[in-house]
Amino acid sequence: MRSYSESMDPIRNPYAPGAGQRPPELAGRDIEVRQFEVVLERVAAGRPERSLVLSGLRGVGKTVLLNTLRSQAIKRAWGTGKIEARPDQSIRLPIAQALHTAMRELGHRHRDDEKVDEFSSVLKAFALRTAANDRKGIRWHPPVDVAAAKGRADSGDLEMDLIELFTDAADLAGDLSVGVGLFIDEMQDISADDLSALCAACHEISQQSAPLVVVGAGLPHLPAVLSASKSYSERLFRYIRVDRLARDACDRALMVPAESEGVQYDDEALDELYAQTDGYPYFVQAFAHATWDHAPTSPITITDVAVAAPEASAELTVGFFGSRYERATPAEREYMRAMAELGIGVDDGSVPTAEVASTLNRKPQSLSPARDGLIKKGLVFSAERGTVAFTVPHFGKFLRTRTA
Ligand SMILES: Nc1ncnc2c1ncn2[C@@H]1O[C@H](COP(=O)(O)OP(=O)(O)OP(=O)(O)O)[C@@H](O)[C@H]1O
Ligand SMILES: [Mg+2]
Repeated sequence: MRSYSESMDPIRNPYAPGAGQRPPELAGRDIEVRQFEVVLERVAAGRPERSLVLSGLRGVGKTVLLNTLRSQAIKRAWGTGKIEARPDQSIRLPIAQALHTAMRELGHRHRDDEKVDEFSSVLKAFALRTAANDRKGIRWHPPVDVAAAKGRADSGDLEMDLIELFTDAADLAGDLSVGVGLFIDEMQDISADDLSALCAACHEISQQSAPLVVVGAGLPHLPAVLSASKSYSERLFRYIRVDRLARDACDRALMVPAESEGVQYDDEALDELYAQTDGYPYFVQAFAHATWDHAPTSPITITDVAVAAPEASAELTVGFFGSRYERATPAEREYMRAMAELGIGVDDGSVPTAEVASTLNRKPQSLSPARDGLIKKGLVFSAERGTVAFTVPHFGKFLRTRTA
């Protein structure tokens, strides 16, 4: 029986579709959260521990999980900072900025002002080694109230400088019996040289048992990128795949926020939402959001889902798929359309690049620029040599319906 006493107030719609939007219920990530609690505790106690690297397709909730892990560190009074890596940009200045943030969280609790100032001057020296080209688009400036240190973290060699900077940051945190957490989103976009320097610095820091952890998030090929960079990466990081939600987690993601507003779902509505979204978190939020606005009352029914589905799909077409498609050049779009055609029946998994070439009647080498461009734009990744796959779930379906 429907209760007509409640009406579905759009203002109280709890769902949160959008990149990096914190979901009302973080479903299905309990293991990762617990694992990170252990990491924080062990690292602060000077015990050896691997940090986490999250990887997965677009919209599965990597950024949200990374932010959650950062909140856990903040709750434990750690100093934290976050960067979002960009292709063609050195990580030097972003890291300086992130550690500046971390230091601001720690500095005012530290008893030894001189030591805090010393760190500021090392941070400044580190930051001032940034090439003019790599400062573009970054508004942050190093602290002005101290002079740059000389002879520490300022050699220009990123690996050496990172080791010194990390050592000093960890030392400052260690005085307070906490640690430093550096969170890196879109980690696959770090250049090969910078990534190698970063891994080497993490390696050195972990050998010193200094309390600093780097937590990364990125596309599915990030573990492969890290392993290719340094063979010991697997010992530094615990690779965690962030994936679509299993059925029970998806139900929780839908029901828990609704319940707190006194709203229920029919079982059939839950079935239909899972069928429509495949449990992909971004889709779950988008469909739940639209369904809420269309449902006249609680409980939400399968009819409400069906009525709302076209609007949810339309929003995804523009906001999730379209915005990414727009970034591609005509040649790259042609490449993706060929991938989409080949993806029928294999659920848009990896397709061989040789087949893409033969579909387009082209020589494989002539398509390298398009493929490399798509990888750089984060639309496509190569999990295995000679294959490509979309980073965006359901992207093949989107392209097939688009051209139809
Ligand atoms: N565990 C979860 N339960 C429910 N909803 C979630 C969960 N994780 C993420 N979401 C929702 O999914 C959407 C995408 O999350 P997020 O931006 O973190 O994904 P992402 O993996 O970082 O994507 P991208 O690769 O595009 O950066 C957001 O609307 C968020 O609220
Ligand atoms: Mg993200």
